[in-house]
Amino acid sequence: MFKLTAKAIACALSLSIAGLAHAAESATAPIVIKFAHVVAENTPKGQGALMFKQLAEERLPGQVRVEVYPNSSLFGDGKEMEALLLGDVQLIAPSLAKFEHYAKAIQVFDLPFLFDDMAAVDRFQQAEAGQKLLRSMEDKNITGLAYWHNGLKQLSANKPLLEPKDARGLKFRVQASAVLEEQFKAVRANPRKMSFAEVYQGLQTGVVNGAENPYSNIYSQKMHEVQSHITESNHGLLDYMVITNTKFWNGLPTDVRTELKTILDEVTVSVNQQADALNEEAKQAILADGKTEILNLSAEQRGLWREAMQPVWRKFEGEIGADVIKAAEAANQGN
Ligand code: LMR
Repeated sequence: MFKLTAKAIACALSLSIAGLAHAAESATAPIVIKFAHVVAENTPKGQGALMFKQLAEERLPGQVRVEVYPNSSLFGDGKEMEALLLGDVQLIAPSLAKFEHYAKAIQVFDLPFLFDDMAAVDRFQQAEAGQKLLRSMEDKNITGLAYWHNGLKQLSANKPLLEPKDARGLKFRVQASAVLEEQFKAVRANPRKMSFAEVYQGLQTGVVNGAENPYSNIYSQKMHEVQSHITESNHGLLDYMVITNTKFWNGLPTDVRTELKTILDEVTVSVNQQADALNEEAKQAILADGKTEILNLSAEQRGLWREAMQPVWRKFEGEIGADVIKAAEAANQGN
């Protein structure tokens, strides 16, 4: 009887010691933040994710570990939002074209020829209307933490695109965005939705004939090797919203969350300052490679593209909200 009891006590003791050890281990185990994205590391978003990892692990040693997964290596752009909601990834930064199922107003960023330059984009994002969009998906468990720039998009194809009629009948890859589909329909081209990871092959095999991307995405995915011409059209925007799972974010210890937000704000400044330079570097690398001709549009030619594509605004005004479009336009005037 006594022997049994001693054994039972020993067993209970060892169980509770193991339990304590486990509890101690999990109390000190770092919080793992997976940051997945679809682009290469030598792009604005790729660089931003790496800088976030470096600063977070430097300033929160042992408390936070950041794992960065570039190039759709963890989730492609069709799956990353779902994965965020399931808690399989904690940070993603989809392009603003990929939010239409979550917040229609974010479609404003896809309207062709809306912003005159990146300074206007910046003003709109920092203004109340832009900041409101960051918070517009919390009921869906998505918190917007920051806007990161990539830049303005350029058209590419295997022929010179100087006027809208040159695009007629061509198949263009588009992101999963109804606005971008309509934009190409407006010039009587055929839009094809395709995930980013498939674009190079799509262009190479002729599934699509053309695309629209900032220079950094064209160069880092080698798209210029399968496109003979790029038109410097600057006709639309490709920027990102860095988002997290609201429940995850609010569940972080307050000091950790505050520090991570401070770090993210610092990274945002750096990404947004360097995005233009990275795109310019990519443009120069494409020129040096000599496989692709880069065409500039005359003011008149650019006017024709604008005229052809701008009717898309009216189609989406109801979904986006006239006030949001007005606020974005006002940013061109420095407001
Ligand atoms: C695209 O699909 O073209 C972009 O969203 C890729 C990216 O994240 O820059």
